[in-house]
Amino acid sequence: MATMLFVGEKSHQLLMISLAIVVALALTTPGSSSLHVKRSHPSVLHTTAKTNQLIYHGGPLLTKPGTINVYLIWYGRNSQKDKATITDFFSSFTPTNDHSISRIQRPPTVSKWWKTIQSYKDKAGSSVPGAVRLIKQISNDYSLGKNIKRAQIADLVQNKIDNNLLPVDPNGIYLVLTSRDVTVERFCMSSCGFHDTKTVPAKGNQVVVGHVGDPSLQCPGFCAWPYAVPAYGPPFKPLVSPNGVGADGLVINIATILAGAATNPFRDGYYQGHVEAPLEAVTACQGKFGEGAFPGFPGKLLEDRASNASYNAYGANGRKFLLPAMWDPVSFSCKVVT
Ligand SMILES: *[C@@H]1O[C@H](CO)[C@@H](O)[C@H](O)[C@H]1NC(C)=O
Repeated sequence: MATMLFVGEKSHQLLMISLAIVVALALTTPGSSSLHVKRSHPSVLHTTAKTNQLIYHGGPLLTKPGTINVYLIWYGRNSQKDKATITDFFSSFTPTNDHSISRIQRPPTVSKWWKTIQSYKDKAGSSVPGAVRLIKQISNDYSLGKNIKRAQIADLVQNKIDNNLLPVDPNGIYLVLTSRDVTVERFCMSSCGFHDTKTVPAKGNQVVVGHVGDPSLQCPGFCAWPYAVPAYGPPFKPLVSPNGVGADGLVINIATILAGAATNPFRDGYYQGHVEAPLEAVTACQGKFGEGAFPGFPGKLLEDRASNASYNAYGANGRKFLLPAMWDPVSFSCKVVT
């Protein structure tokens, strides 16, 4: 079954409002029941006061020592320019590349953003690795057509493993990136990507698979916000994207899926809410990119003088990226990259 990404802003707000109502009702109910509610559910009061608190459900995370290993399948026709952006994005998870990035002292970087993930620990106390490596990229020329189901994404990964084009890797995340002309079940409807698991019978293993699509034609206002705005949303001037709307939308959603897949790979890791529509490490912080964010405003960002492009993190080869806030299990808050 699929784990849904990007529960809409509206349902998030509704959730918070309904939680507030539940608490208000509990507090205003006369007699002993209000005391009972207060004593037995202090965490409810806590949750409304803070942000979406993630709960650890006791299952495994991707915590094998080493690195999180990414395998990419480029599905359809993606431009060389976009592929270079994404490849540089993955190179940016290596801290040694940070030195060449910027003259600013201690600049915000992609590798620093990912470090928060190390605060996610499994039952044995092991952390999700603080580094990500792109191991292999392969291309696929529309072998399943231009309109595909979620299950076909997982089947595609299984097929590549069965044919020994990709290895079985317990710390692996197998990401299928679809080009802008490919529609995927629920992509751009309720989500900008998803992650799931797939059993590979021949190898006797389960692997973690994911999908992210180029949103530039189908739903830039939804999946590449704040670099594009929804047709019927609140008035907001879209920001200038550093690498192009499609590529920067991909980056935001790849970051979201990586964090969710590493910390909730089998749907019993860190999440909040319903197991079928969970809020995970990044989706729990939806719409937040910088300090001072509120619905409709991404928060304070850096701006490139020459291009006016907005970003919040430096990456390899002089790249600038925009990364979403990540929930930090230590501070119990959504942390923006700094
Ligand atoms: C950046 O913004 C300024 C002020 O709005 C404008 O004058 C300038 O032309 C913009 N530069 C680019 C490259 O768009």
